Amino acid sequence: MKFLVANWKMNGDVEFVENFLKKINSIKTENQIVVCPPFPLLYKFKNFSHFLGAQNCSDRKNGAFTGEVSPLLLKDLGCKYVIIGHSERRRIFNESDEMIFEKYKTLTELGINPIICVGETEKARPEWRDVLSIQLSKFKNDENLSKAIIAYEPVWSIGSGETPTTSEIHEVLSFIKQTTNSKCPTLYGGSVNIKNISDILPIPSVDGVLIGGASLRIEEFSEMIRYAERI
Ligand code: PGA
Repeated sequence: MKFLVANWKMNGDVEFVENFLKKINSIKTENQIVVCPPFPLLYKFKNFSHFLGAQNCSDRKNGAFTGEVSPLLLKDLGCKYVIIGHSERRRIFNESDEMIFEKYKTLTELGINPIICVGETEKARPEWRDVLSIQLSKFKNDENLSKAIIAYEPVWSIGSGETPTTSEIHEVLSFIKQTTNSKCPTLYGGSVNIKNISDILPIPSVDGVLIGGASLRIEEFSEMIRYAERI
């Protein structure tokens, strides 16, 4: 069983969801398809035949936190997964490893599965082991880690069309598995599309992929789901 996680980022609208659901709801698969739309579109997924996720959440369940989104509400709306620590959150919104760990603790307490994103910048590429060790340090011995998924997303690969080689992906994901005692599935994310999924998804350490841009191209995304079914 492989995971295909769609991260729409701040894209999509009501009409787009309706077209997306028409197409994707009818696809049967043994794999785990998770779609993470923007918060205001979550309500449209009531009769979704796959799994629903969100792209971020507060580390608090409720209270005086203007503009934040409670993971309790995400659970009510049917979210089984929440992406945390995406590099865009780290870089643009200054989220720290501490903040990401607080979100993880709240999510696992509520029975929601966190998808923890880690990855090095272009500049830190030669030191990826050090970067990942720091990003994983709080999680690696946590008793709830088996409820999470770790997504390796090299920052330089996101939206750029560039990907690491298959052996590089395998090396990094094996390192993550080793660091975490293989407690949770490991995904690759960064410029995954219909052309390279056939190289990436069969890699033994790849338990699935996190797909940004290509998940917004409905035909291409459904092709990717169908492809995953065949391997
Ligand atoms: P991309 O984005 O597939 O467009 O590179 C992946 C992500 O940021 O999760």
